[in-house]
Amino acid sequence: MNLPNLKEAQKRTKKEVLVKTNEYIVSENFKNLGLGKKYFVKTYGCQMNEHDSENIKAILEDMNFTEASSMEQADLILLNTCAIRENAHNKVFGMVGRIKHLKESKPNLIAGICGCMAQEEHIVEEILNKYRWLDIVFGTHNIHELPKILNESLQKQKLEIDVQSIEGDVIENVPVKRDSKYKAWVNIMYGCDKFCTYCIVPYTRGKQRSRTPEFIINEVKQLVIDGYKEVTLLGQNVNAYGKDLNINYGMANLLRDVAETGIERVRFVTSHPWDFTDDMIDAIAKYENIMPYIHLPLQSGSSSILKKMGRRYTKEEYLGLFNKIKERIPGCAITTDIIVGFPNETNEDFLETLDVVNKCKYDSAFTFIFSPRIGTPAMRMEDRISLEVKESRLQELNQLINKYSKEANDKYLGQVVPVLLEGYSEKGEDMLMGYTDTMKLVNVKGNKTMIGKIVDVKITDVKTWSMDGEII
Ligand code: 5AD
Ligand code: SF4
Repeated sequence: MNLPNLKEAQKRTKKEVLVKTNEYIVSENFKNLGLGKKYFVKTYGCQMNEHDSENIKAILEDMNFTEASSMEQADLILLNTCAIRENAHNKVFGMVGRIKHLKESKPNLIAGICGCMAQEEHIVEEILNKYRWLDIVFGTHNIHELPKILNESLQKQKLEIDVQSIEGDVIENVPVKRDSKYKAWVNIMYGCDKFCTYCIVPYTRGKQRSRTPEFIINEVKQLVIDGYKEVTLLGQNVNAYGKDLNINYGMANLLRDVAETGIERVRFVTSHPWDFTDDMIDAIAKYENIMPYIHLPLQSGSSSILKKMGRRYTKEEYLGLFNKIKERIPGCAITTDIIVGFPNETNEDFLETLDVVNKCKYDSAFTFIFSPRIGTPAMRMEDRISLEVKESRLQELNQLINKYSKEANDKYLGQVVPVLLEGYSEKGEDMLMGYTDTMKLVNVKGNKTMIGKIVDVKITDVKTWSMDGEII
């Protein structure tokens, strides 16, 4: 049993990170663990977690499990969890309650928790105290060891917890079962060393480790051969890509090399304003296949709160970068993340945030109330602001964000834009959905043969969250 330790997770060691190409193995005796059994993986949180689940699914299939279409049909259920805010915790344990019910009528059901919550000390304590009937718990650093962990639990017929607090090496041979045939997530780095004071990610995902350019480019080249149209380069802070490799090769170089593979669409998330270089802006502006869409988290418009958050930029510096991007990449859509109610955020601080929103007129934004995370510096900060005030600020902010989202979308009315059609839309029969280069959701009438194609669409109606159009 390996339990997580927050103090350990906080450490940044000088230990060299190795690239391992044969670390993941499924030995012969594990290959039949899933024979005749079905699995169900439920994912919470960000794209990084979505992609981890794609790895987990492929590993389970290497053990001969097959995918179940619902939780009720499964013989193995895994919850791949998110630790970013408290509400994720509540959702996960609500689901654990449902699984317990299922297990009562199906005693051989295997149930487990993995992902970011599993990396948290207090969560694993909670599991040991209240949920010992679970079968496996593993973290973000040892996904490739799932066969061994599962086998251990099955052999001993008891809860097996294996969570590594310190990140390991970069494992290059973990298989992947991609959810889409047209869009692919491609990890370019793991972990984060920014330590923003509110954020749990540097503890749950470990120190920054970039994949080498060769492995990334080869993965993208193979995706092109396999018919993929779009890749999204993934990392907690992609702009810092390469800094840990000491090879004088950064995000701008990588963007150019990925664009040169000829893949039709290149996206990347998430950017931190701190590391956003002019060279990156030039690369995005130059290549037609690097999408004019940037997610640029603001977090707060108040320089004093930004300082307490440890964000390393001021309101003015953020606005300077924002304007530069808009000038150099015409038509570029910019979205953001904003936290309200950071400890002792004053009304003046909040007005500064609204001021930035009024200036930037974002295409859209994810907005959150600050959620204290155990072990982070912000959790220990004094906070006299009531939840009521925080909720009313969030509401006011959301109204403003929605107003600008609609305004940004209105500009598309009557325009012809490229849309990658991904699949059927919820809007009804013969309706397909897809995204523009600027990441706007579009619904169009169409048929199955068009799925996976990039088509020109004339926008005929515009709403706050989506648009309707006709294929021309
Ligand atoms: N409370 C609220 N929101 C948070 N985020 C990260 N940590 C917290 C927290 N403790 C938000 C940030 C980040 C997004 C992924 O989640 O805005 O950009
Ligand atoms: Fe959640 Fe962040 Fe972990 Fe992603 S990295 S799963 S958003 S805590």
